[in-house]
Amino acid sequence: MIVVTGGTGNVGRALTVRLAEAGEAVRAVSRRPEKAGLPEKAEVVRPDADDLFAGASKLFLHLQAVPGDELPALLGRAEAAGVRHVVMLSSGIVGAPGDVDESHPIHVWHAQAEQAVRDSGLAWTFLRPNAFAVNALQWAGQIRAGDSVRGPFAGALSAPIHEDDIAAVAERALLDPGHEGAAHRLTGPGATSNAEQVAAIGRALGRELTFVEVSAREAEETLFPGMPRDMVRAVLKSTAEHGFAPPEVTDTVERVTGRPARAFAEWAEDHRADFGG
Ligand SMILES: NC(=O)c1ccc[n+]([C@@H]2O[C@H](COP(=O)([O-])OP(=O)(O)OC[C@H]3O[C@@H](n4cnc5c(N)ncnc54)[C@H](OP(=O)(O)O)[C@@H]3O)[C@@H](O)[C@H]2O)c1
Repeated sequence: MIVVTGGTGNVGRALTVRLAEAGEAVRAVSRRPEKAGLPEKAEVVRPDADDLFAGASKLFLHLQAVPGDELPALLGRAEAAGVRHVVMLSSGIVGAPGDVDESHPIHVWHAQAEQAVRDSGLAWTFLRPNAFAVNALQWAGQIRAGDSVRGPFAGALSAPIHEDDIAAVAERALLDPGHEGAAHRLTGPGATSNAEQVAAIGRALGRELTFVEVSAREAEETLFPGMPRDMVRAVLKSTAEHGFAPPEVTDTVERVTGRPARAFAEWAEDHRADFGG
């Protein structure tokens, strides 16, 4: 049995579907199981379920679903119930090439969680993706409403990764031997700017979309509404400082899964409906 926390999230949902389709016993965790919309073959339980880890040998750990101060206890419960291997969705900000400000809240959050997993004594695999392609959903409202997108840093570069490519690596790390102690750095196949991403979404929709650059100060109030504002400010600051250099591109997705990472254009095709297409 594999327990997937954040089982309705971008990565957790894709992973749960993959494991269920592969015939694996999978238990996804959601605060609202009745609304989860996951495959029938997957069990769906609430985070406070007494038997959360019953019969489980592996755990996919998604941090938003587990407050940091509760993580050691959760890992202890998992181990006591028989879990032996944790695959954790971390972030490329940990151990990134070049200088990373270790006071950066996103760095601290993920680095502390990695340390808690190391300290647990369980076998671990860290997935360290850089920017997710799904971050582009931040523009969905504007794209449904018109042909221009207002946002900061038109030329900032990233190598966005498809959530199902992260899930595919997680699936292999959970099911195949040899991933214990590995920290997999994950990216999409190549660099693309914010303006190019908006144009690619336009091509997927058969529309011409334009990126209209606004100042970081203006963006601070509206960007990533679900994220704490100190994290948004840290993201804007690090993008201003480092976001125009060629981004890290790895071949980890292909090495681990045997299939190359999908390009942003393919992600946009897969998500046409999210943009009103
Ligand atoms: N976005 C990026 O560019 C990026 C880059 C590197 C790393 N990451 C990592 O990836 C994670 C995001 O992964 P994702 O996109 O798959 O997640 P997501 O789609 O945002 O999913 C979050 C899931 O966690 C569950 N959850 C439980 N408790 C929660 C709470 N208190 N607040 C919010 N959600 C809660 C929710 O499920 P229910 O509502 O069903 O309970 C939700 O489906 C980040 O936390 C970060 O660690 C992201």
